[in-house]
Amino acid sequence: MSMTRLSADALLEREQRRFIEEHPEALRRHDSARAHWLNGVPMQWMTDWQLPAPLIMRAASGATLTDVDGREYADFCLGDTGAMFGHSPPAIAAALKQQAARGLTCMLPSEHTLRAGELLAERFGLPCWQITQSATDANRAVLRWARALTGRNRILVFDGCYHGSLEDTLVRLAGDRVVSRPGQIGQVADFAAHARVVEFNDLPALEAALADGQVACVLAEPVMTNAGMALPQADFWKQARALCSRYQTLLAIDETHTLSSGPRGHAHRIGLPPDFLIVGKAIAGGVPTAVFGFTAELAQRMEHLLATKPAGHSGMGTTLAANALATAALVANLDSVMTEAAYDHMLQLSATLADGLKQRIARRALPWHVTSVGARSELIFRQHPPRTARESLAASDPVLERLLHLYLLNRGVLVTPFHNMMLVSPATSRAQVDLLLASFERFIDEIA
Ligand SMILES: Cc1ncc(COP(=O)(O)O)c(C=O)c1O
Repeated sequence: MSMTRLSADALLEREQRRFIEEHPEALRRHDSARAHWLNGVPMQWMTDWQLPAPLIMRAASGATLTDVDGREYADFCLGDTGAMFGHSPPAIAAALKQQAARGLTCMLPSEHTLRAGELLAERFGLPCWQITQSATDANRAVLRWARALTGRNRILVFDGCYHGSLEDTLVRLAGDRVVSRPGQIGQVADFAAHARVVEFNDLPALEAALADGQVACVLAEPVMTNAGMALPQADFWKQARALCSRYQTLLAIDETHTLSSGPRGHAHRIGLPPDFLIVGKAIAGGVPTAVFGFTAELAQRMEHLLATKPAGHSGMGTTLAANALATAALVANLDSVMTEAAYDHMLQLSATLADGLKQRIARRALPWHVTSVGARSELIFRQHPPRTARESLAASDPVLERLLHLYLLNRGVLVTPFHNMMLVSPATSRAQVDLLLASFERFIDEIA
């Protein structure tokens, strides 16, 4: 971007001053919270939003968030996908209310479990399912199962991936070596020794990594949403699927973010049949839950393994997973929130948003690009969409990104931190999209 550092700094200072003036209560509370919370926040990375003080939420409803200073935001972050179907959809709130009076967690299947399984199988086309509390945990379980079933130690992920705080996947390429992702705290195990990493869209590298038959599982998003939204090139998944089958490597598709693509996810839309399918975050309407599904053949092998393995704890599972409250929310979400009509609204309005951004970028001849996967759009500061994480990283501009986010926030629009992601929910209105577009236009006018 051609903006000089001085003008960026001056603009940032002005916007920070405005934020501080408009958020006295957030500043006061954050300051007091330092007494009891690390850095004043309940999860240490909440300060990575890089605001003068974190926004403190008072209420969230539909696609609108209200903070403790009484300010309202059109929410295009939507809890980084957890609230993809809007905040507190009425059907989820009602299911939670009803279940809340009938037991929250019992470490047993609930009366909703059967229906949840039927709905998952019907929707995603895989017959057998398990529940965890987070997508991180679902991915952890999938990798463990894949290793156990194949008797192979190694896993393969694409460079720049994010599948949660799952150590096995916190690896990346450094030249042609696999290394632990920098920045991790207190990690002593060498997960890089059990991982292979290749660039997304690189079929020869994928084949070279699978050919010796040591890789248990390829874990991948169908579109790399955490690497500037790198889209698969034509035929990539068809060939990658064939390579996994040829070398008897299981293919696990993580749809946690790409559920934005359509009611059955992205893999289903492009005709990609996975061995495992993982969906987290929004699958129970924002109640902490994730699910993973698998083929009938794998289910049979898993049952055999459970029946014949040595006695003792499997090392998988958490006490609260599949609790009655979450299962009630899962059924309500699948049954009456993730509907075709909801997706029609999300996809149409998201297309309006993406087109509006593209028109404004074109009008100013900015070397920027917008990529969409259904309801999810990503702005990247390069002319063409990235094919790999490396290309995406090369285009990152932290100062510009920070400024854009703060500028929009000061005008009542919240976009996803750590990248430029904008998600449209069934509750998002045209007026909210117009507000985002108008604010974006003012931003590019100011920096031009
Ligand atoms: C594709 C993908 N999978 C899994 C996860 C992990 O989700 P959670 O943090 O809810 O465990 C994330 C988180 O951003 C993700 O982007």
